[in-house]
Parts: sequence; C-alpha cells; structure tokens
Amino acid sequence: MAMDPSVAARQSEEAAEAFFRAAPPLRDRDRLAASLADFLARHSAGGGGVVCVTSGGTTVPLEQRCVRYIDNFSSGQRGAASTEYFLKAGYAVIFIHRRGSKQPYCRFLPEDSFLDLFELGEDSEIQVPQSHSSVVKAAISNYRKAIDECLLLKLPFTTIFEYLQLLQMVATSMNCLGHRGMFYLAAAVSDFYVPWESMAKHKIESAGGPLNMQLNQVPKMLFILRKNWAPAAFCVSFKLETDPNILLQKAEMALKKYGMNVVVANELANYKDVVVMVTSNGGRTTVSRTSKAEDLEVQLTDLLVKMHSEHIAQPNS
Ligand code: PMT
Repeated sequence: MAMDPSVAARQSEEAAEAFFRAAPPLRDRDRLAASLADFLARHSAGGGGVVCVTSGGTTVPLEQRCVRYIDNFSSGQRGAASTEYFLKAGYAVIFIHRRGSKQPYCRFLPEDSFLDLFELGEDSEIQVPQSHSSVVKAAISNYRKAIDECLLLKLPFTTIFEYLQLLQMVATSMNCLGHRGMFYLAAAVSDFYVPWESMAKHKIESAGGPLNMQLNQVPKMLFILRKNWAPAAFCVSFKLETDPNILLQKAEMALKKYGMNVVVANELANYKDVVVMVTSNGGRTTVSRTSKAEDLEVQLTDLLVKMHSEHIAQPNS
C-alpha cells in the first residue's frame, strides 16, 4: 500500500533534521553567511534573477580524520559553463562548487599545469605567451567583471555534509527573492554516507582483513528545498543514469515526487552532447549540441531563462 503523502513528507523532514543535527558544523559558517547576506541584499531589490548553480561531486568521508573517501562523478564542467551563460543572460549567480572542480571562465585555460600559462621575460618579469594571451585576457576580464559587479558569489564544498549545509543556507536565504530565485542543481550528490557519529575517528586499520561497512541513505533534500526552504523558486534538478531505458522514467518520477519545475535527464555516455528537459506541464524537449565547438549549456540555459521569465510573470500557472 502506498504511504500517505503527509506521512512521507514528515518522514523526509525528520530525516533531513537528523542529518543536519549530526553533521559536523560547517567551517567558517559565519563568514560565509555574511557574504551571502551581503550578496543577496544587493540583489533583493530590483527585478533581476538570481540563480544558485551547484556543481561538482560531493565526497563521503570514511574517517573523521579523513584519509579515504567515496567520490561522485562530476568534473564541474556543466556547472561552470552554465554559470558563464547565466551571467551573460543578466543573472546574479551563487556558485556552490566542489573545491578543485572546473571554474567559470577557466574552462579554456591549459589543463595540465598552471605554469604552462606563463613564461619569464628578459628581466624575469612574468609574461603570458602569445598563444594563450587571448584566452587569458578574456578569462580575466569576464571573471573580474562578475566579481567586481558583485554578480558572482563562489561557495566551495568537498563533503556531502558541507554541500547540504551550504544548499540549506543558500536556499533559505534566497526565499526572500520569491519567484525571482532559480536553483540549477547540477552537482552529483552522494546517495549514501557514513553518519559522522558512527564514523571511525582515525585511519581505518587494514591489518584486520576485509572491510565491511554499512552506508546510510542521504535524505533527498529536493523535496525539502521545494516545500520548506524556497517554495516559490524555479527549481531545475538533473538526473544522471547509465541505463538509457530507465532515464526518462526516473526523471518523470523526480519531477513529480520532488515538485521540480524541470528535470534535465542525461546519460553518462553522451551527457555533453544531449539532454532531455522534462517539464511539469508534461513536455519533453531534447537539447543537443550542433558541433563539438559549441557548449550544450548555451541552449539549455537559454530555454531555462525563458521558462523562468514565464514563472516570474505567471507565478501560479
Ligand atoms: O560536472 P560534469 O562532468 O559536467 O557532469 C555533469 C553531470 C553529469 C554531473 C550533471 O549533468 C548531472 O547529471 N548532475 C546530477 C547527477 C546526480 O547526482 O544525479 P542523481 O540521480 O544522483 O540526483 C538527482 C538530483 O537529486 C540531483 O539534482 C541532486 O542534486 C539531487 N539529490 C541527490 C541526492 C540526494 N541525497 N539529495 C538530492 O537532493
């Protein structure tokens, strides 16, 4: 028999509360909260959109003094590229990202080594070689513009504990924006974790033979975000699967279960080339890039910006 929705809702809320109670407190919480409050104060008046982009994979530590951890697949490319296009469309962006993942405006810089970007001139002054000069200039000027005009706020995470605490902080703060807020949840979020209080404090001994470990389920926060944290916001979540036969069905399920406005379905084998946007009015829109030189996120963010404008104009439709 299906569970009464109000009982299911209460259970989700209790699971989320228990998760936050037991999580190690976010380092630097006060400083991060102050910079978030300052950023939102600048954007709370006026009619512009504010989007929270999440990007990169969360880790699950296996030890409190962490040596080993479980990781989630995500380079941060989608989140970083989308951030650039949302900024171009006039949005202010809160970029919640995995430390060390791809960053806005840095995607075209050489990957191997930061030092490849520079060379020493005759008087030992640092120069950018001619071959990189245009990408470096563009990266610096776009990035500085976004930061100096207070249009980009970057909040880093590594673990699932940090990610969910940041998401909660940002979402509850963005509630003041009402329909002008958007969530674009591209981060790859761990589904299973070791609760902090039952986690080994020190490095797990390997002398004892094979390791058996029980992982708890991470509470799904999409439901709480939609219901309690920022109910009026426009919510876009992503669904990643490796089996194409279940992808759209899972995306439809997430759309209904968590009350998302859009679920972007993507398959690991071709996620850079094609996605399907599943929408709450029953629509399915395939977005594919026309050439390898084009970012799929150009079209994706463009469609979402239009849908968000309609959401702002007709909040009850
Ligand atoms: O970063 P790239 O290399 O460019 O890759 C981009 C991407 C493939 C990672 C991205 O497009 C993507 O699909 N991200 C979501 C991957 C994912 O975690 O899917 P999921 O099925 O596990 O979760 C679906 C949604 O539920 C996500 O929006 C997630 O934010 C949310 N979630 C997940 C687990 C959890 N406990 N709570 C959540 O709210």
